[in-house]
Amino acid sequence: MSKEIQGFSKMSKTEKIQWMAKNFLYSNPIDVIKEFTGFWHDNIEAQKLLDGFSENTITNFPIPFGIAPNFLINGEMYAIPMVIEESSVVAAASNAAKFWMTRGGFKAKVISTTKVGQVHFSFDGDKERFFHIFNTEYKQKLLNAVKPITANMEKRGGGVKGIDLIDFTQLEMDYFQLRCYFETVDSMGANFINSCLEEFGKVLVELVSSDPRFQVEDSSIEVIMCILSNYTPECLVKVEVECPVDDLGTFDDGRMKAREFATRFAKAVRIAQIDPYRATTHNKGIMNGIDAVVIATGNDFRAVESCVHTYASRDGQYRSLSECSIENDIFNFSIIIPLALGTVGGLTSLHPLAKRTLEVLGNPSASRLMEIVGTVGLAQNFAAVRSLTTTGIQKGHMKMHLTNILASMQATDEEVIMAKAYFETKTVSVSGVRDFLQSLREHK
Ligand code: MEV
Repeated sequence: MSKEIQGFSKMSKTEKIQWMAKNFLYSNPIDVIKEFTGFWHDNIEAQKLLDGFSENTITNFPIPFGIAPNFLINGEMYAIPMVIEESSVVAAASNAAKFWMTRGGFKAKVISTTKVGQVHFSFDGDKERFFHIFNTEYKQKLLNAVKPITANMEKRGGGVKGIDLIDFTQLEMDYFQLRCYFETVDSMGANFINSCLEEFGKVLVELVSSDPRFQVEDSSIEVIMCILSNYTPECLVKVEVECPVDDLGTFDDGRMKAREFATRFAKAVRIAQIDPYRATTHNKGIMNGIDAVVIATGNDFRAVESCVHTYASRDGQYRSLSECSIENDIFNFSIIIPLALGTVGGLTSLHPLAKRTLEVLGNPSASRLMEIVGTVGLAQNFAAVRSLTTTGIQKGHMKMHLTNILASMQATDEEVIMAKAYFETKTVSVSGVRDFLQSLREHK
């Protein structure tokens, strides 16, 4: 039977599910339809909105939306929405937030907000002449050409901040680039940037092709592509926490004193600075928090992810995004991270829960959102490294794991209480929990 299909996108949602069930699940389509439609939103308008975000939509894929309270950031309290499927993440963020709330809270500061876009093109004329004419004439002409696109953004305090012409011909024949810098204020700015870039590309070709100074030597120019860059190393936020070492308290039920903790913690961060294997996991812990808030606000977490990891490799080796120091008996833990985010436009204003998230966060500007998101990243990293360097990660994880296993085995409330007491001092495994429940149920 052929699994090829024409006109799939034109089929109704139910027809799509039916076709998928028949061709790929080999199960009763009626059951599959029931299962998939079970996740449709009751509110028809809300479902229509969700369907409109993507293509060939057949149902929704729910992921938990949680709240991490007690975040004190720059003297203000926040409860932070987090959308994440991994257990322990929200609990860990809340825990770290509470810990630092009583130690001065998080200090966050935006360092820069520049976004980047590129026009990639081929040019095979006289380089020197090209650079000279570009810098003395064309650049201004390009800036003038996009005025109709930038007018509104300029009213809001944004616009094009600069254009550089870069020669890549040593690496790729005839390849040049316009690297363009933008301020997009509260919007992520993808459409704005891409519109400007396409106009730059078009006008640059017109300028060069009609310029007699280039026609003499029969030079040619061709735009290869115009697109924003998700690498924004000048769109940075710094977040830090700090307190006297002795104020850190004790860890692991009093077994570990503040100084020992601080020393072990700082060493763990240094290890993530020097070893990419550890750095990757260390930064993954940071992204657990960052992605969860980025998703809750309707921002593009893939863009944030790709940018952050490029930034973590900016000196040629992948390293930890966070740093820790102990100087003059002060424990300082900080992060500098690129976060190109928006609080207007795109999904931020379309998705009903993204709108709510922003409301819960006090309808922040994009810069304030950078501070909030960066803070959650640092909090998440603190929680993970604290747990790794004290009790170990499995203790907390296993508690959550046990809850999930019990739920999957339809344990009753009474069984849950008994299982939690029993596994307090034992290693949790699926078979162990199954055996425990079986013996409980047999002896009832
Ligand atoms: C798990 O999702 C994240 C951690 O592995 C992060 C870390 O190791 O720092 C706990």
